[in-house]
Amino acid sequence: NAQSYQDLYRPQIHFSPKKSWMNDPNGMVYYKDIYHLFFQYYPESTVWGPMHWGHATSKDMVHWQEQPIALYPDSLGYIFSGSAVADVNNTSGFGKNGKAPLVAIYTNHDPVGEKAQRNNFQTQSIAYSIDEGKSWTKYEHNPVLANPGITDFRDPKVRWYEAGKKWIMTLATKDRITFFSSPNLKEWTKESSFGQDRGAHGGVWECPDLFPLSYEGRTIWVLLVSINPGAPNGGSGTQYFTGTFDGHSFMPDDNQLKWIDYGRDDYAGVTWSNTGNRIVFLGWMSNWMYGQAVPTQAWRSANTIPRQLSLKKVNGSYYLASDPVKELNTLVANSKTVNAVDGKNYNYPGKLNGPFRLSFNVDNLVDHNIILSNSNGEKLIIGYEKSSNQFFIDRSKSGETNFEQSFGNKQIAPRIATSAKSSITLYIDVSSVELFADNGLTVMTSIMFPSKPYDSFLIESGAKMTIQNLSVDELKSIWK
Ligand code: FRU
Repeated sequence: NAQSYQDLYRPQIHFSPKKSWMNDPNGMVYYKDIYHLFFQYYPESTVWGPMHWGHATSKDMVHWQEQPIALYPDSLGYIFSGSAVADVNNTSGFGKNGKAPLVAIYTNHDPVGEKAQRNNFQTQSIAYSIDEGKSWTKYEHNPVLANPGITDFRDPKVRWYEAGKKWIMTLATKDRITFFSSPNLKEWTKESSFGQDRGAHGGVWECPDLFPLSYEGRTIWVLLVSINPGAPNGGSGTQYFTGTFDGHSFMPDDNQLKWIDYGRDDYAGVTWSNTGNRIVFLGWMSNWMYGQAVPTQAWRSANTIPRQLSLKKVNGSYYLASDPVKELNTLVANSKTVNAVDGKNYNYPGKLNGPFRLSFNVDNLVDHNIILSNSNGEKLIIGYEKSSNQFFIDRSKSGETNFEQSFGNKQIAPRIATSAKSSITLYIDVSSVELFADNGLTVMTSIMFPSKPYDSFLIESGAKMTIQNLSVDELKSIWK
């Protein structure tokens, strides 16, 4: 009920579980007008433990209904991260009476094997549903992919590869990605591996995703790879590569290090399957450096807002741009527009009520601070510094920060766009801020824990900067 979503720090425009611990989003699949979101879940505690797949459903990726737990640990181990597909051609044979199955592909993590230091304690297994995700049956011959003897062998993301009429599994295998293929989701053959000598390697590779996007009529493949630790601002983060994929191997098209989100709180994100050409990404809005210590009570962790991905070309390289999904516009309760604020500070008159969205354009991006605050003197600063060409988020005075020593550190992100013109969009919830600069070329997600929600803001720009089309939208709670 709505009551249980009103507690301190509870996000009002983001999914969080009613109670207990959540981490990675899993098995995101769109089927028969429903968006499914499964997630790493430990119902017995507010810290990580034996993993289950929790479940939530939505008609619009914005309003969520939590469902019964979908997958419980079994004799093969905990249920770690993975994906789900709509097997519309019934390649798996799990379908019945003309009903296509949804098939979940996940990692079984055997804690006994791990303790005994047997290297092969992570294997891949499958489960299917023929009632549109309500109930799940594990395949009797699990695991479907045995472990060759490496400690990190997990997080299968599966998609249908139409040109080769086969399934492709993208798997995180310690310091590289290994691709496997299958005609039926049950038998898997190794195709190739990628990345041992590419990208960031400050930590183990986890939760990959591989998908095509089109750019001016050409197909470009994007490979997401989460790493922990080793993110640009410390701890967990998600890098990506752009390139080609021919059904066997992935070839990157440059050596550029790229991150889908430079903030500290967007991890293990992947995209929904079965959404056609529309590619929508969502991540776990936390960081393994402090995720288990954040000061929420009955529950821990929320997800980012869903973001539609597209490609842009900057200085000859492809970059992802993240655009909050248009469905979020249905949350707008009321909207104020200010036409132009010229070369001076802008102090929002009045108080904001609940989550809000702030956006504006500028012709000439210069140093500025956007200061969100509440009447307890807590504030969060989002800004840009021209000399370093970096956006930043400073949450050092944002509220509760002392549960972890690095939590208040300033976070920075390079500006990727090159034009003097810029655009800024912020989504501000009770305990998070998401910055989309330059139409989502630079993204920063950051959580914070103010004693009460920020209800005021001030935009300070030292030098002359004309703020255009400033719009301030109060947003309705998704739980009402
Ligand atoms: C990423 C991760 C995955 C793993 C899951 C376990 O956050 O470590 O690699 O499957 O969490 O909960």
